Amino acid sequence: MKPRAPAVAAALSSGVPAKLRPHLPRITAFLIVFSVGYSLGIVSSSTRPTPKPSQTVIRPHAAHLTAGLGATTTSGVAASSSNGTFGAGYPRSPPHDLFRFRDECREAVPSDAVVQTLIDKLFDGESPYASFPPEHTAALLHPAAARPRGWGSTGAVFADLIEEVRPETILELGAFLGASALHMAAVARNLSLSPAILCVDDFRGWPAFRGRFRRDVPAQRHGDALLLPQFMANVAAAGEAERVLPLPFSTASVLTALCQWGVYADLIEVDAGHDFHSAWADINLAWAVLRPGGVMFGHDYFTGADDRGVRRAVTLFAKVKGLTVRPHGQHWILSAKPRGDARR
Ligand SMILES: C[S@@+](CC[C@H](N)C(=O)[O-])C[C@H]1O[C@@H](n2cnc3c(N)ncnc32)[C@H](O)[C@@H]1O
Repeated sequence: MKPRAPAVAAALSSGVPAKLRPHLPRITAFLIVFSVGYSLGIVSSSTRPTPKPSQTVIRPHAAHLTAGLGATTTSGVAASSSNGTFGAGYPRSPPHDLFRFRDECREAVPSDAVVQTLIDKLFDGESPYASFPPEHTAALLHPAAARPRGWGSTGAVFADLIEEVRPETILELGAFLGASALHMAAVARNLSLSPAILCVDDFRGWPAFRGRFRRDVPAQRHGDALLLPQFMANVAAAGEAERVLPLPFSTASVLTALCQWGVYADLIEVDAGHDFHSAWADINLAWAVLRPGGVMFGHDYFTGADDRGVRRAVTLFAKVKGLTVRPHGQHWILSAKPRGDARR
């Protein structure tokens, strides 16, 4: 037979100060209840199901994806922490990093100082076209093509937007051999405009691209795709070296730097990585350096490649920002960036 609480209390009472003895049964009962409760707590917590990884997967069609999208910056994360957080304030459900992009950049560098600013920052103050090409490089290149290989590079969208926006700075993400950049330069020239045309490309192409374009690109050398010197040769031959400047790095790193340096564009063409995540990052990062009133557009709105990655990214971005998407031939155009609202 198990001893009952009063019996236990009596047994223990001999070593307890006289003042506490009247309360001993209640203290003992409390300790028993507490111990039982504590043990049950351990059992229940150790059998509680651990969250499955699938609980953090974003389902593109789930209604909750767009819930609360108004708060897309750091404040959005703080707001969502009431839904539960992972460790140091990481939100369990969207909005989270997928929607966190810097939306304010440094004070703008004047348009007429953009090219020199970038030559200073990226090329130690000397134009990359100076003394270009050196003999040993020239020997590896194709003769400069009047119309290099491109994709939809001379579509009507370029002339329409350049005439509409009259840009002082154009930013192109994805330049390849310079076809669309040189077309934009020619269109601008016809309109008596002389925008700086900044061409962001890592000039690596994509894995195994060369097989399809042997006639368009030089043979690689020591693993160098030679797209940059071929792009520069094409630009120089077209007489556009003064204002068509290659920015030979990944799109994300250049866009982050442009934001930090206060380099903005009035017209931005997005035509680099075509999978959803590349296009999504490019569009969001580029939006920060699009001048209010400026326009962003891009290629491959209708292609089925990469599971329609470009289209899905553009559509989601327009939804998040409350913009409209206007298809134009193979291209997409977003409504102009609202003026006086740098955060949008
Ligand atoms: C479709 S081509 C651009 C074509 C060009 N707009 C034209 O029509 O003449 C895509 C280019 O994007 C570049 N690219 C892809 N992902 C990139 C990234 N993350 N950073 C920099 N360049 C990238 C590739 O090197 C390639 O030259």
